[in-house]
Amino acid sequence: MTKERLTYLLTGGTGYIGSHTAVEMINNGYEVVIVDNLYNSSDVVVDRIEKITGIRPKFYPYDVRDKDTLRRVFEENSIEGVIHFAGLKSVGESVDRPLDYYRNNLDSTLSLLEIMKEFNVNNFVFSSSATVYGEGNPSPYTEDMPKGNCSNPYGWTKSMIEQILTDAAVANPELSVVLLRYFNPIGAHESGLIGEDPQGIPNNLMPYVSQVAIGRREKLTIFGNDYDTPDGTGERDFIHVVDLAEGHVKAIDYAKSHKGIEVFNLGTGNPYSVLDIVNTFMEVTGAEVKYEFGPRRAGDLAAVWADPSKSEKVLGWKATRDLRKMCEDTWNWQKNNPNGYKK
Ligand code: NAD
Ligand code: UFG
Repeated sequence: MTKERLTYLLTGGTGYIGSHTAVEMINNGYEVVIVDNLYNSSDVVVDRIEKITGIRPKFYPYDVRDKDTLRRVFEENSIEGVIHFAGLKSVGESVDRPLDYYRNNLDSTLSLLEIMKEFNVNNFVFSSSATVYGEGNPSPYTEDMPKGNCSNPYGWTKSMIEQILTDAAVANPELSVVLLRYFNPIGAHESGLIGEDPQGIPNNLMPYVSQVAIGRREKLTIFGNDYDTPDGTGERDFIHVVDLAEGHVKAIDYAKSHKGIEVFNLGTGNPYSVLDIVNTFMEVTGAEVKYEFGPRRAGDLAAVWADPSKSEKVLGWKATRDLRKMCEDTWNWQKNNPNGYKK
């Protein structure tokens, strides 16, 4: 007798984190259905997921905000639960276009929750962010710290969605919600077939570093070298995206057997500085990364890292890939796809 494969909907599943999670889910025996409007990703990702796993996920190029098309997805598939990755995620852009961020990120979540209710689907995993801890809390962050003030509209959408999900879980005792607060995902699948493919000039450190190394950008500007950190540059909790993806598989296991809402940090617990990243990347890859120091970037904190002990204790999850592996896999992806998914 063959075991029944449970079906999970991944909104935003062709994006950076969603695609890596799709691979881990398929490898763990799940059936994956992806809804993504391709605003920030490419449908080539579906081919790549198939190439890695041998199984092609079902793909709908829909907007999650659109309840009519979303309803069709739930009618055509027996969905057990949802991982909600879909959202706009650029901090700087959210300052210039706050309404787009609130509309997209909040509306997509509300539409999804309403359709899930119609179909009595009660397992929800959400892509939240370390940004909800705000400015007042000292690192390492623990899940029981009060949330803080976010320094930008993107962060507020995450904080607001966490509140919406908390209220929804109170109102519906059948609902199981897992809030995953990601720290700084970098790296790529070791096949080099999927990875991070930012459109335009990258906002985040690692894609900028790898684009300088491949010659797409002239040099990196390091935003500030006068922080109160050992080398003066900002410190973050960089985590390999495949470790992060594995955390989702554990979160789904947890959601199946629990009700109510629970929060987990997905980080390594080890802070590394911007200079650590640049130096390790050069050492591991042999590529040169030219850089200069510039002023601090508005809204940046000096040092942000997780206390991941709750995830280890409750989910049985721990990040295992080190910084060298993160750099190695980033470079493998970048070298094999110098222009990302563009053919
Ligand atoms: P991504 O942009 O690569 O993936 C998000 C995907 O959602 C994209 O493919 C985009 O096309 C899709 N999307 C956006 N709005 C949509 C809509 N209305 N309908 C359908 N599809 C839509 O980003 P990512 O890095 O993979 O991030 C995934 C999630 O994790 C996001 O919610 C992001 O805010 C969150 N997150 C990311 C980071 C990070 O550093 N990458 C950190 C913390 C949290
Ligand atoms: N940095 C540079 N130069 C660059 C880009 C970044 O020096 O060109 C520095 C930043 O100043 C910071 C560090 O590299 O010190 C990391 O910056 P990122 O932009 O890569 O990441 P952030 O920590 O600012 O933000 C990321 C995600 C957010 C998420 C947050 C959660 O972009 O979505 O992590 O911790 F909310």
